[in-house]
Amino acid sequence: MKVNVDGIELDLPNGTSAIDAVFAAGHDVPYFCAHSYLSPIGACRMCLVEAGTPRKGKDGNFELDEQGNVKIFYFPKPMASCTMMATEGMHIKTAKTSDVVAKSQAGMMEFHLINHPLDCPTCDKGGACELQDRAFEYGYGASRFGFDRRHAGKHYPLSDFIILDQERCIHCKRCVRYFEEVPAQEVLDFIERGVHTFIDTQEGGLPTGFQGNIADVCPVGALLDNVARFRGRNWEYDHTPTTCTLCPVGCSITVDARNGRLERIVGRENREVNEMWICDAGRFGHVFASEHRLTTPLIREDGKLREATWDEAIAAMKAGFEGMNPADLGLYLSADSTLEEGAALEALAEQLGAKSVDHWPRYAVSVPSSATLTDVAQADAIVVLGADLGEEAPIVELRILEALRGGILPNEFTHGTAIADLRLVERPARKPEKLAVIGKPSRLSAHAGIRAEVGENPLLALANPNTDELRAALALLDKAEKPVLVIGADVLNAASGSFSVNLSDMAARTGAKILAIPAGANSAGLAGLNLVPRSGGLNYASLGQAKAAFISRLDPKRRAAGFTVVHDTHLTDTAMLADVVLPAVTGYEKRGTTVNLEGRFLGLQQAALSAGESADLIRTLTALAEALGVRPSVRGLRSAQGLVTQKLGVNVAELPQGGVIHRLPRTFDAPTAQTYRPELWKPRMMEKTWQSTWVERIESLVDNEWELPMAGPMMGGDD
Ligand code: SF4
Ligand code: SF4
Ligand code: SF4
Ligand code: FES
Repeated sequence: MKVNVDGIELDLPNGTSAIDAVFAAGHDVPYFCAHSYLSPIGACRMCLVEAGTPRKGKDGNFELDEQGNVKIFYFPKPMASCTMMATEGMHIKTAKTSDVVAKSQAGMMEFHLINHPLDCPTCDKGGACELQDRAFEYGYGASRFGFDRRHAGKHYPLSDFIILDQERCIHCKRCVRYFEEVPAQEVLDFIERGVHTFIDTQEGGLPTGFQGNIADVCPVGALLDNVARFRGRNWEYDHTPTTCTLCPVGCSITVDARNGRLERIVGRENREVNEMWICDAGRFGHVFASEHRLTTPLIREDGKLREATWDEAIAAMKAGFEGMNPADLGLYLSADSTLEEGAALEALAEQLGAKSVDHWPRYAVSVPSSATLTDVAQADAIVVLGADLGEEAPIVELRILEALRGGILPNEFTHGTAIADLRLVERPARKPEKLAVIGKPSRLSAHAGIRAEVGENPLLALANPNTDELRAALALLDKAEKPVLVIGADVLNAASGSFSVNLSDMAARTGAKILAIPAGANSAGLAGLNLVPRSGGLNYASLGQAKAAFISRLDPKRRAAGFTVVHDTHLTDTAMLADVVLPAVTGYEKRGTTVNLEGRFLGLQQAALSAGESADLIRTLTALAEALGVRPSVRGLRSAQGLVTQKLGVNVAELPQGGVIHRLPRTFDAPTAQTYRPELWKPRMMEKTWQSTWVERIESLVDNEWELPMAGPMMGGDD
């Protein structure tokens, strides 16, 4: 399809919106209500352009002008380009070539500002505000303000986590459409009419799960993340693009830090993984990273832990390991450790001859996925078996809801994801008959056409269906062309030697791709490195029998029989039992690589947080090696990357943006005595281990709303 934008001829795919045609030409149009992952509705009228098309005469040929060129018939008024499809031969004029457009856009900008408060100096969006930027670029450049503006609520809590400033709302409806179109929750809408219009919820606030995304989609400072509110100006933050390690999805996020504190997390686009969205645990669950951190090593003296230097800690470990056979040391690490950390631990274990190596949490068997998240979004049948996705991998829930509304993946242009995808519609119809949820009921059950509550082993129940629901779920997989089977904790906990046979049978019988949800953020990668007990070694559940142990960022609330070293970010219950405690960094402060539930290698970058003398696992293992009197072969990130590349065949030093899928072979079959059910929200955000009172603090701030601007610490950002 040929389209002309400001005199530039373009060849674009059919269905392209006029706004995307403009951006494809490298030109600009201001917009507020359009959003790449939401339906275009033409609410703000900022994206005006002049548009015209050729017209055929009675003879069937295009009408010509006096010069003999094809004549373009322009619409009488400027048109909203986000809701208009570009058509063959269309000519589009932007403010670059049309004074009418420039004047119309400036007029619309004046309308947007007519009741807008002059809040920029105290507005959290200041410096990153689409309205500020567009007013500067496309406004009149002068104010005709000479009357009283509308006043409305400035601190209107929609929930504990989202505060609405009603005066700043420009009624773009992005937040309303987000809830309707993405998590399928019709909870927000416009109330009243005209100048009195405001956004509000039904009684009961916003549903937990994905509510924080409305702070990202709001183009102005009307919807604000309450955890991050008044913590800093946008230009003061160090923005670090990295990957969330709170669950195995591995969403792309940006970590915003100021003065060494993690103040805010926002979603970052990754079309293949999380599109634009992150879950509430990933967004708000970061507070632990800047509160009550361990900043120095601790050593036990006279039965009590005391602060120490790293040299003292190494000396204490040396004394503690005295006379011990290094091969008796158990080495245990958290399943959200990076591949590089895992490789360093494995290299040290090999040097020591240690057999007791394990990562936790993990299931008894490693099940690589064959489906990607894009496969899930485009599946024509999905059966969720024994998974509570809200706890185990929340974004998978959104990708399933995307499949139920047709699996439309937005087009990609040289300017990025389509700004207005005309295939997306408001309040989309969903097809619940494409989804079956087998196992315990969960949030997703409400969207499933087939629901079956079954007990311990949902996979066996599906393989041998004895109810109508189970038979219907099996028939759903059988009939579909692109079926996906999502398996979670209740299936994987019950896994035994015959499990992989049952699963392969089911996949072969139905042609379904498998999306297995691992227990931790990098369980898939650490399984690929085979970080499980060697023959004769003790698994993590048997830690108490180890003669000595090194435990990195795990809190089993028990210790080894002998000398125990704990490496953690906080003084956990396990750290309280240890002989030496070494301060660790969180997932936000590391460089490295994780492998998500699809098998996608994703990069982690180090945010600028201050955590005293905390060290990542690679550096900590060099200190441990020194205490044990060996020189480790992995002493830094580069050598660890080399080892990972050699073992897994992926060059982790140069990962493409967005990550890369690499199928790791099925590795271990190492039984563990414990079962595990992931809980994203509570351990990270609410557990009193961190002695965090931030929820109460937020509540008190909301209660004392009018005191907020005056509160010194809020503006200073230190509390
Ligand atoms: Fe200023 Fe934008 Fe905030 Fe409005 S929303 S007060 S324009 S920064
Ligand atoms: Fe748009 Fe924000 Fe108002 Fe919602 S609150 S309608 S996203 S400006
Ligand atoms: Fe983090 Fe998982 Fe939430 Fe994504 S879905 S933001 S990876 S916790
Ligand atoms: Fe709002 Fe087009 S009308 S972006």
